Amino acid sequence: MKSRISRRNFLLGSSAVVAAGAMQGIPGTPLSPPLNLMKSAFGQGNIAMPDTMIRMNSNENPWGPSRAALRAINAAVEEANLYTYFLSGEISELIGSQQNIAPEHISVGAGSSEILKLGGLLASMNEGSIVVPDPTFEDLPRYAGANGSEVIRVPVNDNLETDLEAMASAVRRDTKLIYICNPNNPIPSIVEKNALRDFVLEMSRDRMVFVDEAYHEFVDDPEYGTMMGLVRDGHQNIIVARTASKIHGLAGLRVGFGFSHPDLAAEINRRMTGTVNIIGMRAALASYRDMEHSNFVLRKNKEALDITQGYFREAGIRHINSAANFTFVETGHDIDEVQARFMEHNIRVGRPFPPYRNWMRLSMAKPDEMRYFVQTYEKLYG
Ligand SMILES: Cc1ncc(COP(=O)(O)O)c(C=O)c1O
Repeated sequence: MKSRISRRNFLLGSSAVVAAGAMQGIPGTPLSPPLNLMKSAFGQGNIAMPDTMIRMNSNENPWGPSRAALRAINAAVEEANLYTYFLSGEISELIGSQQNIAPEHISVGAGSSEILKLGGLLASMNEGSIVVPDPTFEDLPRYAGANGSEVIRVPVNDNLETDLEAMASAVRRDTKLIYICNPNNPIPSIVEKNALRDFVLEMSRDRMVFVDEAYHEFVDDPEYGTMMGLVRDGHQNIIVARTASKIHGLAGLRVGFGFSHPDLAAEINRRMTGTVNIIGMRAALASYRDMEHSNFVLRKNKEALDITQGYFREAGIRHINSAANFTFVETGHDIDEVQARFMEHNIRVGRPFPPYRNWMRLSMAKPDEMRYFVQTYEKLYG
């Protein structure tokens, strides 16, 4: 039984009252449709149900693209007749200069999912296995499995963290790739940077190591470190992936990046099946030049996490302290039921992640929306 303490004061906290005053203007971003919930005041302890469903299920960016990206998208509509190869150089140069890495290391995919799948494809071109944490993001393992790899799943440890030692032990002579998602998904924990670096260097001697850093920009933990430096230093067999879908809010336009040794990048590029369309290219070019929007999203994500995880903390509800834009919480109730009950309140929460049937993955929406979530959670399960 979890300990329960009064949360009324938390719900009526000063930040809530301030936030209830006005929908904030968002620098570089269009005002999103008002939720129609703020006027009804925390002061009375009751936020009205919003008119539309709030998406807390897919780790999307609730703020949308930046204004700069939206302008670029509008202008790019006029270029819809053009193939995009003339922009490939520009985008690799831009991303390369920001990451301090030569463009030959970079692959541009239709979302980082495409890079993940190509990693899975390369691994499965010769018979063998891949090693992945369990649970984790499924795009790479599922694709490698569909192409003939045996997928060896290594359960996370008791703290629900990726277990590097167990993963190293699971590696076989026929293992062609190890996948590390850092921060992981659906469990937003990180792997400590020095341990990970040693692991990646050691393991990549004889097989590929794929480090998925989709949530890199959100991480605020000194224990975390990107593995980009290993690619930059010329190490082979290492792929790092990043995406424009998360902090840049461009998930619907499908733009992602792979970073690897130029030989491996060439292998990946040769097998690419999609191409990024011109609207996605233009939007990404504009968005990656716009730090203001990313910083804004970062701040708001932190605020949303503070509200949500602050509530869980006060209520003594077990959750994984997030290094990303979602959290993972043990509700103590079957997730099918939890989903259904939140749907009745116009909140869509994450799907089941077996065997964690009593846990819920919860993507951060806007702070006001998270306050409404907290109020609803309290009502349903408090
Ligand atoms: C860990 C992880 N990697 C990759 C992706 C795919 O992102 P993209 O939109 O770039 O394909 C996601 C999407 O949710 C994710 O959670």
